[in-house]
Amino acid sequence: MPALLQHDVSLRAYNTFGIDAKAHLFAAFASVDELRELLRLPEVQAAPKLILGGGSNLLFTRDFDGVVLKNEIRGLETLDENAADNTVLVRAGAGESWHGLVEYSLAQGLAGIENLSLIPGTVGAAPLQNIGAYGVELQDAFEYLEAVELVSGQLRRFSREECGFGYRESVFKGPLRNQYIVTGVVLRLHRRRAQANTSYGAIRSTLEEMGVTEDPTPQQVSQAVISIRRSKLPDPAQVGNAGSFFKNPEVSQAKFDALKTEYPETPGYPVPGGVKVPAGWLIEQCGWKGHRAGEGGRYGVHDRQALVLVNHGGATGAEVRALAEEIIASVREKFGIELHPEVNII
Ligand code: EPU
Repeated sequence: MPALLQHDVSLRAYNTFGIDAKAHLFAAFASVDELRELLRLPEVQAAPKLILGGGSNLLFTRDFDGVVLKNEIRGLETLDENAADNTVLVRAGAGESWHGLVEYSLAQGLAGIENLSLIPGTVGAAPLQNIGAYGVELQDAFEYLEAVELVSGQLRRFSREECGFGYRESVFKGPLRNQYIVTGVVLRLHRRRAQANTSYGAIRSTLEEMGVTEDPTPQQVSQAVISIRRSKLPDPAQVGNAGSFFKNPEVSQAKFDALKTEYPETPGYPVPGGVKVPAGWLIEQCGWKGHRAGEGGRYGVHDRQALVLVNHGGATGAEVRALAEEIIASVREKFGIELHPEVNII
């Protein structure tokens, strides 16, 4: 079926912040062929493009005066099993839900992405920001992805090295921004379980509460992660949000030492070249946790995790952005640290 180009479509149902922005043009595609067909339309060629997955990492501050292309390419399959090292390649269409892929993998008895359970969004968006949680990042399980070049319609494969992964970063957010549409992702997972990654303290304590004291299965780790996430992070189906609004900033060791002198309880963990400080802590120290703004407190800062901005209903993207700017200014003033949004602001 040819993909249909629609005019003036509300994007409210397509972003987890629940912001009521409009797209001048909108089309969904369910295959590489449908995507190519769309890319050949003169109207689409001429317009700025925004590729939408689950809309879980976006803040619309205005209507989008171009074409929104919604990726609905489905498919989950096991490609290739390597008996020698007990690994299995799993392929997922970019429009599949990320958590659906985690569940599929667990059902096949495969380990590797259980720590990334319940992250909102689609498979295709995962590599763009190298999603990460509880000690694991997408790049740890990543084999390759397939993507269509917008200008030529050609399908190309990108290896892990070519994706240039970093902390919430990839080449697709940098030099290749808006040039490719991810159509499929292939992961290398483990059939015989490698040691579970329980480096994150909260996972260990949650597993203990579950009565699991040693050698947790991938399913048990997944359950622990799900329960931690549910206790801290608002469910986008109930409260508009896009997860962490800011990245955790990295400071030099000297800056961290100075912070520790002034605020001895400052948390931080070493990374190559410095120390990462949880932005949630900085924001909470500035008094923002649970803050509500707007008429009737329509939007604000989540009361259980200060890194998450929330739309309780009816906020505009511009209001949320203004709040983010106030938060950035207050953290700068109190700590001399610059926060950067993790969410894509459109
Ligand atoms: N903290 C506070 N107050 C808060 C929030 C956090 O003091 O309101 C401090 C605490 O010291 C806590 C520490 O920050 O121990 C870390 O908090 P948490 O474990 O909640 O993790 P995070 O660093 O705030 C990051 C990711 C999350 C990911 C978690 C778990 C970023 C930007 N965020 O948050 O990712 O789920 O670690 O690994 O790196 C996302 O990207 O959308 C996301 C939710």
